[in-house]
Amino acid sequence: MTNDAQQTGANQPPAPAVSGRHVIVGVTGGISAYKTADLVSKLAQAGASVHVLMTQAATRFVTPLTFQALSGNPVYDSPWTHIETQDPQHISQAGRADCMLIAPCTMDALARLAIGRADDVISLVAAAIDRTRIPVMLAPAMNAAMWQQPATQRNVTLLKADGFHFVGPETGWQACRTSGPGRMSEPADILRSLSLLLSPPCDADAASS
Ligand SMILES: Cc1cc2nc3c(=O)[nH]c(=O)nc-3n(C[C@H](O)[C@H](O)[C@H](O)COP(=O)(O)O)c2cc1C
Repeated sequence: MTNDAQQTGANQPPAPAVSGRHVIVGVTGGISAYKTADLVSKLAQAGASVHVLMTQAATRFVTPLTFQALSGNPVYDSPWTHIETQDPQHISQAGRADCMLIAPCTMDALARLAIGRADDVISLVAAAIDRTRIPVMLAPAMNAAMWQQPATQRNVTLLKADGFHFVGPETGWQACRTSGPGRMSEPADILRSLSLLLSPPCDADAASS
């Protein structure tokens, strides 16, 4: 499995690999957060146990209540909520996860992950995940100019070298009403890529052949 799942999403049937899996979905502050609501619904329909984390910026685009209703689980929008008695929430969340997806992943979130920051609930939980066992997939979404910034491209290269998986971005219509690279992949494509990532290696080989 390559750590760039960009090409693996299209033309594959929906895989059942997410069923029964504990999937953490991090939502950062981009306009395409509305598409992540659909993705969370699709994951729940596919039988995944979905746990949503949101940055403060993300809550300006879609309310935590939306994700709570769609996932059936409480939403974590701060490192300081839902502290459990035995483990701080970031340790227990990371320990239970089968995978983590950050969608949309903003330019700023890419930068924070690339330099190893842990000062919001998403980067904190990501920091507590052992990526040699639990895959973390990023679905970047931003304006074409932001995607093409040398800083963003440097961060993507660093993150791939550090073992993060990517899905997208695609080229197409953007919220700024122009077309270009940086559009978040469609929820169905992200679901397929995530499913493939969670499939046993032989299934993944068969699906990509
Ligand atoms: C209307 C609006 C739309 C935005 N859309 C995006 C976006 O699609 N991608 C992105 O990287 N930043 C976008 N931003 C900027 C981010 O919200 C900003 O960088 C924020 O600090 C990101 O915080 P977070 O990464 O902690 O969620 C947008 C800002 C506004 C006001």
